[in-house]
Amino acid sequence: MAANQECSGNLKRQLEKLFDASLRSTVPDKPRVKPVVTTSPLDRSGDYQCNNAMGLWSMIKGKDSQFNGPPAVGEALLNNLPTSEMVDSISCSVTGPGFVNVVLSTKWMAKSIANMLIDGIDTWAPAPPVKRALVDFSSPNIAKEMHINCHRCTLARMLEFSKVEVLRRNHVGDWGTQFGMLIEYLFEKFPDTDSVTETAIGDLQSFYKESKKKFDDDPDFKEKAQKAVVRLQGGDPIYRKAWAKICEISRTEFSKVYQRLQVELEEKGESFYNPYIANVIGELDSKGLTEESEGARVIFLQGFKIPLIVVKSDGGFNYASTDLTALWYRLNEEKAEWIIYVTDSSQKQHFDMFFKAARNAGWLPDSDNTHPRVDHVDFGLVVNGEDRKRFRTRASDVVRLVDLLDEAKTRSKTALIERGKDKEWTPEELDQTAEAVGYGAVKYADLKSNRTTGYTFDFDAMLSDKGNTAVYLLYAHARICSIIRKSGKDIDELKKTVELVLDHPEERALGLHLLRFAETVEEACTTLFPNVLCLYLYSLSERFTSFYSIHQVIGSPEEASRLLLCEATAIVMRKCFPPSWNHPCLQD
Ligand code: ARG
Repeated sequence: MAANQECSGNLKRQLEKLFDASLRSTVPDKPRVKPVVTTSPLDRSGDYQCNNAMGLWSMIKGKDSQFNGPPAVGEALLNNLPTSEMVDSISCSVTGPGFVNVVLSTKWMAKSIANMLIDGIDTWAPAPPVKRALVDFSSPNIAKEMHINCHRCTLARMLEFSKVEVLRRNHVGDWGTQFGMLIEYLFEKFPDTDSVTETAIGDLQSFYKESKKKFDDDPDFKEKAQKAVVRLQGGDPIYRKAWAKICEISRTEFSKVYQRLQVELEEKGESFYNPYIANVIGELDSKGLTEESEGARVIFLQGFKIPLIVVKSDGGFNYASTDLTALWYRLNEEKAEWIIYVTDSSQKQHFDMFFKAARNAGWLPDSDNTHPRVDHVDFGLVVNGEDRKRFRTRASDVVRLVDLLDEAKTRSKTALIERGKDKEWTPEELDQTAEAVGYGAVKYADLKSNRTTGYTFDFDAMLSDKGNTAVYLLYAHARICSIIRKSGKDIDELKKTVELVLDHPEERALGLHLLRFAETVEEACTTLFPNVLCLYLYSLSERFTSFYSIHQVIGSPEEASRLLLCEATAIVMRKCFPPSWNHPCLQD
């Protein structure tokens, strides 16, 4: 990531700055050495530690060094550390690797949290790694079902919080060869295409399946379908019209899901890039990257056995031609500095290959650490609990995201009714809350797992109120809200008049965790692992519970300060939550 100029809310970055200054004085002739600051393991005496001594020692030992081992280097780093109000004490282990342990000033920590309460959580945003990023996510295929992962917008949200301008891009699969058969099938079933409505076609997925069956079984139909692709891609108005109709129906279905999940994104589907493809391939030709192979134009890439086909032998373009063109467009027209593609891991090779082709074309730098940069954020399979096979229905169909959402809503509604909420809330409130909890539970279960390993889909586990679940988090947040409400105090007034203190170990531990928010968001964005943020959020709830189970808030002498700590916790939790979780009923 690019160097950060600002780091006001980011503890780790602030400490790195201090250690950077110390490194410059300790080893002035090693200007390239970067400070290595990490959080300290629980059994160590500090909050953070600097781990540079060992590495420095191996660089300088034997070269008439003034130091006699890593601890001496650590000692020097400690002595050269500029004084700062954020540091309470520093120590260095006299043996071993010479870690420099930093204990933060509790007073400074309390002040920082109090400042956030006044100035807002945005002051805790990590510095933007780039100005403009493009996140290509969801990107379903027309006429097919949306897969379970089509809601993943957390990366976009985290980057937006970091003040990055994010182009949320839906790279809809609206231009593949499947359209040939879909269009021909549409003509057969509805000779009068103009009058075709969504209800007439019914379920687009079944329509897709029927046309595929015909394509596989009927050679005449197959031939017609293949010709139809050519006519469509050649711009035949009748074929274009039928294509537009199918896309429109699919789009209406997709947008219902996006609305339910409050996912915002802008569609520029595969077809959008069609007018640019020929030029882009032309550029690759003129750079000498492409060659003829069995009638197709291909790019041979080092490290890959098969070449990347960019023009098929029938002259048509494919997924790779579109993706190369989309990348060109995103870099040159949209000026995105960081382009992130979120898809399942079965597409890894496709991304590896076209990224490499783009590097060969000189569109991207060779190193991953500079911009413009591309990343494929791949995720593993979602599997069934019973047989650990790909998540499918009994009829071995893809599980429809809409059906999952419906069931999640029904289940969470039942749970709310069991708790008597139907008597407290209006039917609309009950409905909205059931949606927020149900959909949120599905989303959270998806996000909290390490994306590359995949996970088992299990409604009971995701809707449980125990463990690292959405429901547990919502309870923790609701409890905090109710403490604040029951106190009857005006929090805004307290923010201005009361000093926040973190005198007790549990208060300090909670405060420290709050202060680690910015570096956690930064880590999740840098590594592109949103589960890092889920883990943070879960630990935050646990730390709150440890604090609250020992310390009384209402009626204690520290009431006012503790209410502020409660408020800060609730604010950080809400920043991590999806917007739908801000529903007033969920704060009850
Ligand atoms: N439509 C593709 C699919 O459903 C995903 C597209 C991902 N984005 C991209 N630029 N290739 O598998």
